[in-house]
Amino acid sequence: MAILKILQYPDVRLHKVAKKVETVTEQTRKLIRDMAETMYAAPGVGLAATQVDVHEQIIVADVSDAHDQLLVLINPEILTRDGEEESEEGCLSVPGIYETVKRAEKISVRALNEQGETFTLEAEGFLAVCIQHEVDHLHGKVFVEYLSQLKQTRIRNKLKKQQRERM
Ligand code: NI
Repeated sequence: MAILKILQYPDVRLHKVAKKVETVTEQTRKLIRDMAETMYAAPGVGLAATQVDVHEQIIVADVSDAHDQLLVLINPEILTRDGEEESEEGCLSVPGIYETVKRAEKISVRALNEQGETFTLEAEGFLAVCIQHEVDHLHGKVFVEYLSQLKQTRIRNKLKKQQRERM
């Protein structure tokens, strides 16, 4: 397994739209293992392949307290969205920034698992927020893009400054 490099906002590669996985192969599963290791090490609760510069529709997530319930979603499709809730979100690609975003409270999502089998999942609360956040990544969208232009500019400038200081 390997820890992968996570792209940092405002990297333009975070805006690439991920392609569907045609066939789930051993290579897909290796990527998933590396993504999971990267997410747990960060530590984070979700990671989309886009964030490690692989533009395929793959998500890993684990919102459990014990970090022992890995959820893998390949080619996820949100089928239904119900209700509305606001919660504070963060992102491994936007370190140190936490902002309130409005999302659906409950969703159902259809995806493939690591074996390439289709399944449907009903999610609510934190898991639903997490899945919506990660699906956005696959569409090239970062959560800060829900905020006002003014806030986005501030966040971009702050992160660029941090990145310069690290170099
Ligand atoms: Ni994120």
